[in-house]
Amino acid sequence: MKLYIRNISEVVTPKGKHAQFGNKMADVMVIRNGAILIQDGIITAVGRTSELDKMHGICDVERMDASDRTLIPGFVDSHTHFIFGGYRAEEFSWRMQGDNYLSIMERGGGINATIQPTKDATEEELFEVGRQRLDLMLSYGVTTIESKSGYGMDRDCELKMLRVMRALNATHPISLYSTFLGAHSVIPEYKGRERDYLEYLLREVLPEIQKSDLAEFVDIFCDQGVFSAQDALYYLREAKKMNFKVKIHADEIASIGASKTAVDVLAISADHLLKTPDDVIYRMAQTGVIATLLPLTAFCLREPYAPARKMIDAGCAVALASDFNPGSCFTCNIPLLIAIACIYMNMSIGEVVTALTLNGAAALGVADRVGSIEVGKQADLVLLSFPSASYLPYHTAMNTVETVFKGGKIVYQKPRQH
Ligand code: NIG
Ligand code: FE
Repeated sequence: MKLYIRNISEVVTPKGKHAQFGNKMADVMVIRNGAILIQDGIITAVGRTSELDKMHGICDVERMDASDRTLIPGFVDSHTHFIFGGYRAEEFSWRMQGDNYLSIMERGGGINATIQPTKDATEEELFEVGRQRLDLMLSYGVTTIESKSGYGMDRDCELKMLRVMRALNATHPISLYSTFLGAHSVIPEYKGRERDYLEYLLREVLPEIQKSDLAEFVDIFCDQGVFSAQDALYYLREAKKMNFKVKIHADEIASIGASKTAVDVLAISADHLLKTPDDVIYRMAQTGVIATLLPLTAFCLREPYAPARKMIDAGCAVALASDFNPGSCFTCNIPLLIAIACIYMNMSIGEVVTALTLNGAAALGVADRVGSIEVGKQADLVLLSFPSASYLPYHTAMNTVETVFKGGKIVYQKPRQH
């Protein structure tokens, strides 16, 4: 039950049981010629190989040599919408021809176009495509994710999505944390009566979710053409009273006060933040609301990237996530995300590693257990085929993941790359 990995060219990890803020994000620990001891899925020692070799307890262990390789914590993808039916490829083509988010909605596209295919899919079908998508995420070194409902927009289909996530969590090596995103769009029958829809969710859907323990987080898409900041404030406050932790899709299309709402309700995270006012950036830093940035979506939408540099310099805790979804971002490609963050968002490699591990874990409330390589944490680890973390963005959009460990067990492996 003990695994000893030694001669690791570099162990690279943030430190701590909470998010790292501002300039501390770059402060990652680098151990050259490192080693790690894992017992019953938990990290029991980490340090230099020369030191750990001398320790008692390094007998009766399975040994692994990791020369010329880098060990980092498993990635935490803290914002995904990967359970859905159907596809929306035509929207991609429309966008390439100049359509924007609102005109696509008017053409019958957008989130509402995914509702019927999701309703039509059986639980088994959603499970099977979900499983395949999780396998792909695992190959990118992702060991924990957040997963949102939000393509049912009625009680039965929303609960169906959440049950699929629970079944996947029970059977797949990746850990899933579920978010109820029933407030993802305004369906035609509630147009102009958004508050009535939110009341329906609060009175008829959330109690069911709570009773069956199907989600930990509640999220709302607060933006132009969707839910107002006032509605979001009301809804998230009510959800908090029911003991849900809250998140918010904020400032993706327009700045209508969503990120300010995140600060007012003390959301665990505010996500997207493409158009966030400077004064709110400072308030997020002060109040500890994690800024979850989703550069793959900005890339697919041809939008300017979120101001990560400004946010980190202002003292924010930044997390990075994929936003994998059927419309604005059909990708969970972590290597591409890393390349964009380094090349276009001026984040250092240390900051990117922190954003994709410890800060992602903090955005899910699990930074005490995962997100760093430290004694007492779960051994969710990724071994990269190259000798330092600088190869991560240098191998642009190329996957350098060789071995993935979940709770100390190998759950993915491919041959050494060169
Ligand atoms: O995060 N912005 C809202 N939700 C998703 C889009 C989902 C969809 O288009 O299906 C997002 O980008
Ligand atoms: Fe999203």
